[in-house]
Amino acid sequence: MTGDIQRVLIPQARIAQRVKDLADQIMSDHVPPLLEEGQGVTIIPIMTGGMIFCADLIRQIPLAMKIGLMMVSSYPGRSVQSQGSQMLATQVGDIHGRNVVLLDDILDSGGTLKMVVPALRELGAASVKTCVLLRKDRPAARQVHADYVGFDIPDEFVVGYGLDYNDYYRNLPDIVTLKPAVFSEASP
Ligand code: IMP
Ligand code: MG
Repeated sequence: MTGDIQRVLIPQARIAQRVKDLADQIMSDHVPPLLEEGQGVTIIPIMTGGMIFCADLIRQIPLAMKIGLMMVSSYPGRSVQSQGSQMLATQVGDIHGRNVVLLDDILDSGGTLKMVVPALRELGAASVKTCVLLRKDRPAARQVHADYVGFDIPDEFVVGYGLDYNDYYRNLPDIVTLKPAVFSEASP
């Protein structure tokens, strides 16, 4: 698996530092009295890519919080371009009147956030903030607002730290690009 890596774009130590910064920003935007009395916080990672980011981030946010889950697919199988976002499952609990922070691994075409944010507002959330670890340097990504952004990266296909190619490589600790041969082979 590590033999398939072309280049380490963001090593794990830099990810850890930036995740801590994002946690501090989210914390300072969600402490009382900024939130009205009784409004809770629900963190919703978009699965599967947001899983590792969420696990690291929430342990740096010492606030009472609930966790919800949403499963969205945009890059099924061996796709390296968005095939359009499809909501596969929603398990967010009752978010009526709650402050939601939606987490995604990467903002690429923006299709996922454009679909999910209105759906959460429809469920009656008091606020919906969006947090992405990565944002690709492409016009479509810049046109979609994200409240918290970890890193701006070149418009390249990346894996690791939750991001996959054909469902593999999510467990790499760094964010990396893959050798071109990987995309032409039958399986990783
Ligand atoms: P968007 O809906 O096009 O903004 O893309 C969001 C989703 O596409 C992410 O949550 C990822 O699952 C997937 N994605 C976009 N770019 C990449 C990439 O470079 N590597 C792996 N997955 C990606
Ligand atoms: Mg994803």
